[in-house]
Amino acid sequence: TAPAAVIVAIDGPAGTGKSSTSKAVAAKLGLGYLDTGAQYRAITWWMLNNGIDVDDAIAVADAAAKPVIVSGTDPAAPTITVDGLDAAGPIRTQEVTAAVSAVSAVPEVRALITDLQRSIAAEAPEGIVVEGRDIGITVLPDADLKIFLTASPEARAARRSGELKGKEAQATDLAATREALIKRDAADSGRKTSPLAKADDAVEVDTTELTLEQVIECVVTLIEGAGAEK
Ligand code: DC
Repeated sequence: TAPAAVIVAIDGPAGTGKSSTSKAVAAKLGLGYLDTGAQYRAITWWMLNNGIDVDDAIAVADAAAKPVIVSGTDPAAPTITVDGLDAAGPIRTQEVTAAVSAVSAVPEVRALITDLQRSIAAEAPEGIVVEGRDIGITVLPDADLKIFLTASPEARAARRSGELKGKEAQATDLAATREALIKRDAADSGRKTSPLAKADDAVEVDTTELTLEQVIECVVTLIEGAGAEK
C-alpha cells in the first residue's frame, strides 16, 4: 500500500500508456487521479464552442479565465465538466485534439490550469497520481515520485489507433495517427512555456516492449519504494 498523501507525477508524450497506467495505479493504491491533458482539452473545447480563434494567442489569453473547469479525481470514474456541462466525450474529438496544442501553449492558459492542478493535488488527503507533460518539472516539482513514460513512435501510434477504433471514434488509419501524434509531440516539446520534458530526478520507463500490466506493476513498485523513503 502507498503511504499517506504520496504525490506521484507521471509525464510523457501521447500513446505511452500514461492514462491507463495512472488510473490503474491510483485505483490499486487508493490514490486520487488527475488527467491534466483532459483539462487542456476542456478549455480548448470551450474556446471552440465560443468562437475563439485558437491560433490567436491574445484572444485565447483574454478568454482563458472564463470557463469553469472541474475535475473529479476518483480513478474508477474520473469526470470533467466545463461550466457544469459533462465534457468527457467531446474533449476526445479530433477537432479538439487538433487544437489543443495551440491553446495549451498560451502562458495565461498554463498559469490558470497549473494553479487548478496544484490546488487539486493539495486537497487530495489520500495522495494523488497526476499525469501530464509538465507535472514533474513545473506543476509539482516536489512530487514524491516522478515517472517519465516513453515508447517508440510506432508503438504509440498503434496504441492510440487501437483506442480510437475501440471507442468507434472517427475512422483513422495508423499512418495518419502516427503523423498527427508526432506533430502534436513536436508542438508540445517545442513550445516556450513548460514544454514536455523529463525532470532530472524522474525515473524513465520505456514501455515499448511492456504490456500494460507490466507497466502498472513497475510503477506500483516504484511508488511503494518512494513511500518507504518518505
Ligand atoms: O494527454 P493528452 O493527449 O490528453 O493531452 C492533450 C494536450 O494537452 C497535449 O497535446 C498537450 C497538452 N498538455 C499540456 O500541455 N500539459 C499537460 N500537463 C498535459 C497536457
